[in-house]
Amino acid sequence: MRIIFAQVTIAALLAGTVSAQLYPGQSNLNHTCQIQKPLLSCPSSDPSKVDSCCVETLGGLVLSTQFWQTFTGGESQGQLLPKDTFTLHGLWPDFCNGSYTQYCDLTRQYDPIPSPSTTNGLPNGSFVPAYNGSNIGTFLEPFGRYDLLEYMNTYWIAQNQDNPGFWGHEFSKHATCFSTFNVPCYGPQYRQHEDVVDFFETTVKYYKRFPTFKWLEEAAIMPSNKTGYSYTAIRDALFQKHGGVPFIGCSGPRYNGTAAGKGSLDNGYTALSEVWYYEYVYGRPQEMNTVPTSASPTYLTNCAKAPGAVMYYQRTNGSEKVPAVPF
Ligand SMILES: *[C@@H]1O[C@H](CO)[C@@H](O)[C@H](O)[C@H]1NC(C)=O
Ligand SMILES: *[C@@H]1O[C@H](CO)[C@@H](O)[C@H](O)[C@H]1NC(C)=O
Ligand SMILES: *[C@@H]1O[C@H](CO)[C@@H](O)[C@H](O)[C@H]1NC(C)=O
Ligand SMILES: *[C@@H]1O[C@H](CO)[C@@H](O)[C@H](O)[C@H]1NC(C)=O
Ligand SMILES: *[C@@H]1O[C@H](CO)[C@@H](O)[C@H](O)[C@H]1NC(C)=O
Ligand SMILES: *[C@@H]1O[C@H](CO)[C@@H](O)[C@H](O)[C@H]1NC(C)=O
Ligand SMILES: *[C@@H]1O[C@H](CO)[C@@H](O)[C@H](O)[C@H]1NC(C)=O
Repeated sequence: MRIIFAQVTIAALLAGTVSAQLYPGQSNLNHTCQIQKPLLSCPSSDPSKVDSCCVETLGGLVLSTQFWQTFTGGESQGQLLPKDTFTLHGLWPDFCNGSYTQYCDLTRQYDPIPSPSTTNGLPNGSFVPAYNGSNIGTFLEPFGRYDLLEYMNTYWIAQNQDNPGFWGHEFSKHATCFSTFNVPCYGPQYRQHEDVVDFFETTVKYYKRFPTFKWLEEAAIMPSNKTGYSYTAIRDALFQKHGGVPFIGCSGPRYNGTAAGKGSLDNGYTALSEVWYYEYVYGRPQEMNTVPTSASPTYLTNCAKAPGAVMYYQRTNGSEKVPAVPF
């Protein structure tokens, strides 16, 4: 009886996981990654030939992404930016060819505001239902990880949204597409939401490795509402520190829509807002055994290229605070 019961349970589990996940065939047994050769994540491996819990399979280009924003919109609720640091955006698994998938496991949908609202962003994709349960931050509480929660509330700051809603978005849109954060990888002793805790912890570890504010400061690039910087100066400073050319994102007005750029053909954006660092990784991304690489040569930036055209704005008065927990 016991044996039959166990077999039925395993079969049911496998049936459930196969339909829900991007990486079919992962069982919750035999993922002792320590005894396997850590393969490099790109070029991508055939998931039927490797243990996709131990090497990032398909999504092998890992992006650690950060924001520079000047306000949060939640100041009146005490949602402030940490002084002198970029904030954390996320950790994403792009395919080795630079394309990506999203919302890969709808059984782990914790995003209250799915964006896009279907898995492929098109009307024929699967609908991503809005999450309305306890916010994802509460998942850390049974693990006693209040230190991680405080760190996240200090450095992983949403804009015009509550922080946990944003973390839920990042987890469900991106973390569910990593093969190595898949539920079966945690083995038969998996504890509910262990994957969430592991992802948040790993995302923070990558973020701490890339102190963008400090790297720019060392190149004498400091926030200013008066002086603009050249895209190439920002790029070169970050390339020198990271070892790969990151994607540098801008928002705000287009250069040729500003007074300074009137008549120019440069229609890049003028307000520095994002940096995405690209890494290949040996074995599980959790182990941080990475090789820096550059963003795609066809999409290195959307910022204006004209000399001095990029503004690295100072935060709004009252929108930042000296963080209580160190970077
Ligand atoms: C686990 O590993 C053993 C020994 O290599 C193998 O016989 C077994 O089929 C594996 N089980 C799974 C579920 O992969
Ligand atoms: C990129 O790689 C993924 C995973 O191997 C594949 O599914 C997708 O079709 C590729 N996209 C392009 C544009 O080559
Ligand atoms: C969804 O629509 C797009 C664009 O209309 C099309 O290219 C794609 O093949 C469709 N996908 C499916 C699964 O039907
Ligand atoms: C909460 O979400 C579940 C699952 O999508 C849905 O069935 C339910 O109607 C929602 N409840 C409310 C109050 O929106
Ligand atoms: C800005 O540049 C783009 C691309 O070079 C051009 O198509 C557009 O007309 C320009 N706009 C203005 C306002 O000059
Ligand atoms: C600097 O400019 C940005 C963009 O206009 C604005 O959001 C911010 O409040 C300004 N900061 C200060 C200190 O004036
Ligand atoms: C922000 O604060 C600085 C220093 O106190 C002050 O000089 C500046 O005028 C303020 N800017 C705004 C937009 O209020």
